[in-house]
Amino acid sequence: MKKIVVALDGHSSCGKSTTAKQVAKELGYAYIDTGAMYRAVTLYFLEHYIDLTNPKKVQDALAHIEVTFHRNPKTHRNEVFLNGLNVEDEIRTMYVSNMVSEVSVIPAVRRAMVAEQQKMGKRRGVVMDGRDIGTVVFPDAEVKVFMTADVETRAKRRQEELFEKDQLVPFDEIVENLQKRDHIDSTREDSPLRQAEDAHLLDTSHITIDEQVEFVMRLVDSKL
Ligand code: C5P
Repeated sequence: MKKIVVALDGHSSCGKSTTAKQVAKELGYAYIDTGAMYRAVTLYFLEHYIDLTNPKKVQDALAHIEVTFHRNPKTHRNEVFLNGLNVEDEIRTMYVSNMVSEVSVIPAVRRAMVAEQQKMGKRRGVVMDGRDIGTVVFPDAEVKVFMTADVETRAKRRQEELFEKDQLVPFDEIVENLQKRDHIDSTREDSPLRQAEDAHLLDTSHITIDEQVEFVMRLVDSKL
């Protein structure tokens, strides 16, 4: 059967990854969380005190970073590994969230991640979520969806996700972080967050996850 690329881009915490995981499961495709890759690089930079303004240090650090995904046999979920270590929990902390957009503006970081993502999706049959999948990583993706939602809805979701991981973060702090990341992501020079011309807009403020999955699956079915 024909295999395609499904690109889900959009703002932070509007249900991209939950939708992407479910779509990948229904299709038997790999799910690639590109945000997790930028988060893993950020964790490395923070742990090694890399000076983001020094291109040589950034380039050297990138040469020492390997980000991979492995299936957790207990949860059956793909988890992210940084140089062989599972960092799935560390990369979701506010410590990383507060820095990830600053790291993601760096062109050398983007080049390295995009090349890796293109390799992962070379044989198609992938659902990828991120900010620049439909515009830069796979501009030829058969299905492109741009997801958004109002900031309160997104912050509430994010707060619940963090709470499930025993992290109590004030609502206002989350709103601030989401707005700051949206701003940096949308205004950076290199591959800013924007809706691809041929992407379908999906506002998830008032719809369920099942409805989001249905929306994407209808588009997928029309391409298979
Ligand atoms: O998807 P998530 O919210 O985990 O992404 C974290 C951050 O990684 C985003 O705010 C953005 O700065 C960066 N990112 C990116 N390009 C992608 C995916 C994520 O710049 N394709």
